[in-house]
Amino acid sequence: MLIRDMTVADVDGVYEIEKETFSDPWSKASFLESIAEPNNHYLVAIMEGSVVGYCGYWGIAGEGYIYNVAVKASHLRQGVGLRMLEELIMQAVSRGITSLTLEVRQSNEAAINLYKRLDFTEVGTRKDFYTKPLEDAIIMWRSPIH
Ligand SMILES: CC(C)(COP(=O)(O)OP(=O)(O)OC[C@H]1O[C@@H](n2cnc3c(N)ncnc32)[C@H](O)[C@@H]1OP(=O)(O)O)[C@@H](O)C(=O)NCCC(=O)NCCS
Repeated sequence: MLIRDMTVADVDGVYEIEKETFSDPWSKASFLESIAEPNNHYLVAIMEGSVVGYCGYWGIAGEGYIYNVAVKASHLRQGVGLRMLEELIMQAVSRGITSLTLEVRQSNEAAINLYKRLDFTEVGTRKDFYTKPLEDAIIMWRSPIH
């Protein structure tokens, strides 16, 4: 598996996963705009030439906000999510990020377990943060990162 920066050429593959995964998917245009923004850093996981996962964070003033973590349904539970986020964290540290945060649906056991494995802790909730279906978010932080 190769983990590398997301490029414009990856966006079709990323969007296919986004569509199959989320009830309120980002558009291709949103990904294209996001990867062009210098404070965003997106990674893709590539297997046999295809995108099998992606993640990204927005980082500024030492803090990073992780979003858009997803792995292709056919490649779940093979360590893709863990490897991508380990790489994201390493890169964030090298860019001077000292803490990382994210939100996750409170029913999303897979993602919560993944983030806990990466030493994120639950620090609070955001009421009705998600729609389709309406659900609270758990706020998680990892601080400090090193
Ligand atoms: C969450 C997600 C990214 C995990 O990706 P993945 O590549 O399948 O995860 P990994 O194989 O790297 O798993 C790493 C660890 O996470 C936890 N985990 C992953 N999937 C899990 C599941 N279905 N149930 C419970 N724990 C799970 C486990 O601790 C796992 O370690 P283990 O396999 O040694 O037990 C993936 O399930 C996904 O894309 N889900 C849909 C999108 C999503 O929810 N994104 C997060 C939004 S906040």
